[in-house]
Amino acid sequence: MNVVAASGNGATAPSAGLPIDLRGKKAFIAGVADDQGFGWAIAKQLAEAGAEISLGVWVPALNIFESSYRRGKFDANRKLANGSLLEFAHIYPMDAVFDTPEDVPPEIAENKRYAGNEGYTVSEAAEKLARDVGKIDILVHSLANGPEVQKPLLETSRRGYLAALSASSYSLISMLQRFGPLLNPGGAVISLTYLAGARVIPGYGGGMSSAKAALESDTKVLAFEAGRKWNVRVNTISAGPLGSRAAKAIGFIDDMIKYSYENAPIQKELSAYEIGSVAAFLCSPLASAVTGHVMYVDNGLNTMGLALDSKVLEREPVDASA
Ligand SMILES: NC(=O)c1ccc[n+]([C@@H]2O[C@H](COP(=O)([O-])OP(=O)(O)OC[C@H]3O[C@@H](n4cnc5c(N)ncnc54)[C@H](O)[C@@H]3O)[C@@H](O)[C@H]2O)c1
Repeated sequence: MNVVAASGNGATAPSAGLPIDLRGKKAFIAGVADDQGFGWAIAKQLAEAGAEISLGVWVPALNIFESSYRRGKFDANRKLANGSLLEFAHIYPMDAVFDTPEDVPPEIAENKRYAGNEGYTVSEAAEKLARDVGKIDILVHSLANGPEVQKPLLETSRRGYLAALSASSYSLISMLQRFGPLLNPGGAVISLTYLAGARVIPGYGGGMSSAKAALESDTKVLAFEAGRKWNVRVNTISAGPLGSRAAKAIGFIDDMIKYSYENAPIQKELSAYEIGSVAAFLCSPLASAVTGHVMYVDNGLNTMGLALDSKVLEREPVDASA
């Protein structure tokens, strides 16, 4: 079957382009707390394509995010191509390590960074979204946390390891359990992973490599289960290094950015908006047959088996006069 659009006389029809059109679609994005990370860039690109965006912001980061937003600190990064500013329909407090109110321990409930916020567990955030927005089309998980990320796996405690898995992997399962019923058929789920889930990246410790491996495997199983249950697609983007707030906390992001520049097939620094654009594609009908996929958006670094800047490869210049 020929699927190329052609006019009756055999000539190709004049092209109207192939735009990503998400007008009328509604998205919920968890994991935005400033304008420097992948979550923000995904929000912006989805909005460029016409989607309405609501956010789930980690409770300890919510105050500073909202006040920075109000004071115009993000305005330069809010400008959309049509001249308007990126707006958020709703901003909810959310902590993705708690599924229901019963899961919140007293020391968190009474913590001054949490006190004053209510309904921040995953199930309550989903209930609020259902009440305010109703059905959604796009669910984005752009969050991770590993308290012992700076420790090698061999020195990681059980508690630290399980905390990394809880915040960075199980959180996707929890979100899909609660937000899945809100997704319209044809909807899409995106998460963010990192090469360290598939290859050894010394320095990405504390069980975070395990958490990303789990996230990538779960993406396949959830794609099957959620595909059959709600007719939605589940994909993950394996992003190259970006100097986000979370990445800076790991402590070696500048080295990773330099390493990628020196060794990736495409020699340029990655922009978070490149990940945002791929997310918009994956969430659009253009990707209607793509699910269970780990999509690398990393200038191709994952394909390399040799570090081109390795000292081992250095050669003494040959003296032609000898
Ligand atoms: N920066 C990189 O180099 C890189 C590379 C590949 C993948 N990633 C992934 O991209 C995603 C987004 O990270 P980023 O680098 O854009 O940093 P970021 O700091 O912008 O985003 C991380 C977000 O997670 C939120 N968060 C942490 N714990 C949470 C919790 N318990 N509940 C709710 N939210 C919580 C933080 O508030 C923050 O907004 C993460 O999954 C990260 O692992 C990052």
